[in-house]
Amino acid sequence: MKFTTPATTNPIDQLRVVGQPLDRIDGPLKTTGTAPYAYERHDVVENVAYGCIVGSAIAKGRIVLINLDEARRAPGVLTIITAENAGKLGKGKMNVATLLGGPEIAHYHQAIALVVADTFEQATAAAQLVRVQYLPTAGKFDLAREKDNAVVPKSENPDTSAGNFTRAFDLAPVRLDATYTTPDQSHAMMEPHASTARWEGNRLTVWTSNQMIDWGVGDLAKTLNLPKENVRLISPYIGGGFGGKLFLRAEALLAALGARAARRPVKVALTRPMIFNNTTHRPATIQRIRIGATRDGKITAIGHESWSGNLEGGEPENAVQQTRLLYAGPNRITATRLALLDLPEGNAMRAPGEAPGMMALEVAMDEMAEKLQMDPLQFRILNDTKVDPEKTDRRFSQRRLVECFRVGAERFGWNQRQAQPGRVRDGRWLIGMGVAAGFRNNLVMPSGARVRLDGNGIITVETDMTDIGTGSYTIIAQTAAEMMGTQVDKVVVRLGDSAFPASAGSGGQWGANSATAGVYAACVKLREIIAQKLTVAPDEVAFRDGMLHARGQSFPLGYVAAHGEIVAEDRIEFGDLDKRYQQSTFAAHFVEVGVDAATGETRVRRMLAVCAAGRIINPKSARSQVIGAMTMGVGAALMEELFVDKRGGFFVNHDLAGYEVPVHADIPHQDVVFLDETDPMSSPMKAKGVGELGLCGVSAAIANAIYNASGIRVREYPITLDKLITKLPEWV
Ligand code: MOS
Repeated sequence: MKFTTPATTNPIDQLRVVGQPLDRIDGPLKTTGTAPYAYERHDVVENVAYGCIVGSAIAKGRIVLINLDEARRAPGVLTIITAENAGKLGKGKMNVATLLGGPEIAHYHQAIALVVADTFEQATAAAQLVRVQYLPTAGKFDLAREKDNAVVPKSENPDTSAGNFTRAFDLAPVRLDATYTTPDQSHAMMEPHASTARWEGNRLTVWTSNQMIDWGVGDLAKTLNLPKENVRLISPYIGGGFGGKLFLRAEALLAALGARAARRPVKVALTRPMIFNNTTHRPATIQRIRIGATRDGKITAIGHESWSGNLEGGEPENAVQQTRLLYAGPNRITATRLALLDLPEGNAMRAPGEAPGMMALEVAMDEMAEKLQMDPLQFRILNDTKVDPEKTDRRFSQRRLVECFRVGAERFGWNQRQAQPGRVRDGRWLIGMGVAAGFRNNLVMPSGARVRLDGNGIITVETDMTDIGTGSYTIIAQTAAEMMGTQVDKVVVRLGDSAFPASAGSGGQWGANSATAGVYAACVKLREIIAQKLTVAPDEVAFRDGMLHARGQSFPLGYVAAHGEIVAEDRIEFGDLDKRYQQSTFAAHFVEVGVDAATGETRVRRMLAVCAAGRIINPKSARSQVIGAMTMGVGAALMEELFVDKRGGFFVNHDLAGYEVPVHADIPHQDVVFLDETDPMSSPMKAKGVGELGLCGVSAAIANAIYNASGIRVREYPITLDKLITKLPEWV
């Protein structure tokens, strides 16, 4: 089914099942610890051997000699894989550095060997006996230093402009020119990267933890020089991805190579200390923002430039993305620049682009409002736009940012905020409120699904869509139940297997809308087949309460499949509606913080997100997405930072003791509101994504609240207490 014109009324609009706050159908499996994860497939794979990865101890250079003698003699060792004996490997599309390094080394902890043994302990012990002689060469690890050598990246549209920014900025009576920095960050998902690989002849099955099955199959096949149909990935449950599992990673490739050499299934998990440097991370950014406005607060010029680092062939963080679209202003520029660094590969993490971009832009907006002596919320509302400000003949499909602000201000009690910083005190706490816009683009991706109807009226949905803790199982069941006029408990959802039709996968908050739209398409086809069986036209059949009603007669849904299952398969594809209309999601984030007047410790006291993101397919799982994302926003604002060893070229704090993320005790009650909205441009579901929207803007709202509490403006994230303590007002 090709989606080329705005959605009209369709069966989803009945909202009997879709739109209901159903519990996650995978919830009991998760809470009882019985959902099988990639490293625990005892249920399906026997006689498994264990692999342990050896990571490069240098960041750049080459291996002169790799001596495996001692490791080979260690107890239980079955085989050791290195680039020397792995055979000729191809290279996947999605990775920048090769997943098995040597002799050239691209980054610290790049995998250089896999030791396979009978037990986990034997593999781990033997891995310590692999002797490697390196010839290190000097690398570049310091973004601030390499910034001036940064290049124009190959990415699409590294520069955009409209009007004459330089002139308008020079002439503006009120101006801000400020630079903000965000650090390297790590996904820090709960489940490590893990894979179990098994060969049968030249056919490979890998039970893995991967957000994008079809990309993974493609890249694994390419790397192993196999036809795609010989590779099967199975990833039904994923303990978080956050972008870190979008692509094939070393553990999956090495499990496959290890299993081939050992002639036994092999499983490999990255250890926590290996994840941070072996896999991808979000690159640090340096962002310069200039805003010029009239004295009454109309933006006349806005410019956003961002620098970040990556390996050769990698892309910079697209931190300017939202600045192209969020506020009006006739004269504008954006630019991204890439500094070549020899740190591990930078790539997508938790709303790549907008998450760090909004951390800068929405503080700049707060600073500008202060210069204008305007309420920061009013300043934003005044500069709202209904069109793409770079191409003013292009409208947003839906844009209710102003309504998000108004609803949120009322609910949060924004009128209680003191404009003058440092005025509100609660015992030892300095109290402040902050606001920021939330913004994340809505991407649409083709997505396929197969639906089966059996004689008992049970609908089975099969698609390689993944559930990364997001609720895909549940919203797909809701979609199929709505389409077929039945209950969710009559729907079986099977996900995360490349034997099923290729889906949109989970990334970029496109999963919910695109994957359910694929299920919608397959169900439309199933409805047509059923009508055919009843020898009536498709619009003559009503699907309701588990029954088929046509021409005055009624049958149970399963009746038409009494003599054999009915199977329908289709794929949603998208025309150019997303080019003709700008599709984005919007939010208003409100935060109240307390800053300890003596120590500078910041505690978040209240949070509210008001979101406008199309139809909400399941308000309960959507709220879960948003509160999780808000929590990530607290992490980015206050805690998360990879420290770069600028001599050794690696992230020093590569475990969860040193890389801090928020825990329950850090987070207050989170209030989430969804505006009642449908977006007919997005898909027949009229839905969008919320997972990443919930993050974009939160950290800036916290920074702005800290300023309102303390009068201290911090432009370098994270806002740790050392950046506040020497500037705190004197005790009175
Ligand atoms: Mo997301 S960072 O595209 O998983």
